[in-house]
This record gives sequence, structure tokens and C-alpha cells, in this order.
Amino acid sequence: MNSGPGLTLNLAGIPMKTPFLAASGCYGYGREYLPWADYSCWGALVLKGTTREPRGGNPPPRLVETPSGLLNAIGLQNPGIDYFLKQIRPGLEELGPAIILNIAGESIEEYCQVASLLEGVKEVDGIEVNISCPNVRKGGVHFGTDPAVVEELVGAVREVYSGPLLVKLSLEAGQIVPVALAAEKAGADALSLINTLRGMVIDIHRRRPVLGSLTGGLSGPAIRPVAVRAVWEVAEAVKIPVVGMGGICTAEDALQFFLAGATAVAVGTANFVNPRVASDLVRGLTRYLQENGFKHYRELIGAARNR
Ligand SMILES: Cc1cc2nc3c(=O)[nH]c(=O)nc-3n(C[C@H](O)[C@H](O)[C@H](O)COP(=O)(O)O)c2cc1C
Repeated sequence: MNSGPGLTLNLAGIPMKTPFLAASGCYGYGREYLPWADYSCWGALVLKGTTREPRGGNPPPRLVETPSGLLNAIGLQNPGIDYFLKQIRPGLEELGPAIILNIAGESIEEYCQVASLLEGVKEVDGIEVNISCPNVRKGGVHFGTDPAVVEELVGAVREVYSGPLLVKLSLEAGQIVPVALAAEKAGADALSLINTLRGMVIDIHRRRPVLGSLTGGLSGPAIRPVAVRAVWEVAEAVKIPVVGMGGICTAEDALQFFLAGATAVAVGTANFVNPRVASDLVRGLTRYLQENGFKHYRELIGAARNR
């Protein structure tokens, strides 16, 4: 029997063995890391953003490395929800961790159609609604920037999906707390933050932006202090749990997010560098808890604001 410090949790109604989630878009549809990773160290796998129709994504190049980060412009390439349900879904529960599907859309109807198809699907324990997609009805302005639109969108998804509902916030709004409060009011069970931050890299020899779509989303250690700050602010404002992410590579990084108020953390870009990162995180967190006399990691949640 494991007598070490406790790492279990119940996130938005989903029981998890550890507070570590694989972040959406960085763990494919869950099976891609089987040759390398110890899946028992993940509490949940958040699968790639999925839309109603298949999407080909943005023109290449789609990835460029930056100091301490990665700029990506995948453009939500995915095979669509029907393919997911028929071809990818069967057997997902055998992977071990809880399965959360990240969903995306360009209209409220599209989000709702995708969410309603997931209602009662036993292999999917919950959904994460990515609200940083362009809203075609509003000239491509991101859904996540306007609290009123966020409330309408999350409320509409809530009506068609009764399972655990996470909402993934973007910092594009500038003010993240009003958006977080709107998502909570509309029925979100938990909030995930942050998504990538928009940036650009220019090739000075071609004298053109490197990415095919000019701009992309910055992830990795470069965004970590911004993410820790956002988790601190949102965790103070809402009552529902917060899943923190942005640049987590080590247990020490994850600890900052727990101390800022995150109930769980997700890890994206670090998987590309270290496909065994989940085991390192479990080992490192366990050691920290033992060395500092904690019985359960939950004692750390929000502890940095206690003094
Ligand atoms: C290549 C790539 C693809 C991503 N795709 C998605 C996605 O489909 N949906 C989503 O909500 N976030 C997506 N993200 C954002 C990550 O889930 C995460 O929020 C962000 O990268 C910050 O965490 P990190 O620094 O640990 O990577 C993607 C990130 C990367 C690097």
C-alpha cells in the first residue's frame, strides 16, 4: 500500500490519481506517448481541440522555437467530432487517466453541437471548452474576450452537456477575472488557464514572419510568470477549482501554481522536450511534500496567499 503523501483529487466531479493533466494540443488523442510515458502519473489527459467538421489547420510552418518557449500556429487541425467518436473514442478508458476532450468552434451553435454529441459518452469524463477561438459572427473577435459572450457561450453549452465542464480561458481579454466570473456564473465546473499568448517571430534573412499564419501562440517557460499571476488572480475571485498551466516543466514549477491557488496543473510544451515529465512531476512533488511534512498536496493549494 502507498503510504506516501496523498496526491488524489476530485476535479469538477472527475476522480483523479494525481493533480497533473496533459494539456490540450500537446498530447494528441492520448495514445501518442504510450512508448515513453508512465500514464499512471497523469490524473487526466486533455485531448486535442476538436471541432464539428474536420479542420486542415494553418499553412506551414506552424512551429518555431523561441528563447524558453514555443510559438505555434496549428490552427486547430483535427479530424472532427464524428471521426473522434467512431475511430478514437473506443478503448480510451483503457489508457488509465481520466479523459477530457477539449472542444472548439466558430459559433455558439458549433460548440453546442460538439458538446451535445459528447453527452453520455462514457469514455469521455468531461469536456474543456476552448473559448479562445475566433467568433465568425463577430468578425473573428475571440469569444473569450467579452464576458457577456462568454456567459452566453458557456450557458448554452451547459444546457446541452450535463457532465463535468471545464472552460479554458485566454488572456487576450487583458482582464481575465471578469471572463472567469462570467464562465463560473454560466455553470462552468472548473476553469483552465492560461492558453498561449499571441506572438510573432521574424526571419531576418527572408525578411518575413516565420509562421505561415504570421502570428502564433507562445507557450513554455517564457509565459510561466504570466500564468502564475493569472491563476493567483482568478483563484481569488472564483469558488470553482482552477487548473493552472503555462510553462510547467518541473515539480518546482507546478508547486508555484498550487501555492497560487490551482487545484490541478496541466503540462503542455514540456512533453515535447521530456516525454516522461509526468513521472518527474509525481516524484518531485512527493519529495517536496515529504521533506516539508505535508500529508496531502491539497494543503498547498492557495497557501502562498495565507500570510
Ligand atoms: C502545439 C500546441 C497545440 C495546442 N493546442 C491547443 C488546443 O487544441 N486547445 C487548447 O485549448 N489549447 C491548446 N494549446 C495550449 C496548451 O494546452 C496550453 O494551454 C499552453 O501551451 C500553455 O501550457 P504550456 O506552456 O505547458 O505548453 C496548444 C499548445 C501547443 C504548444
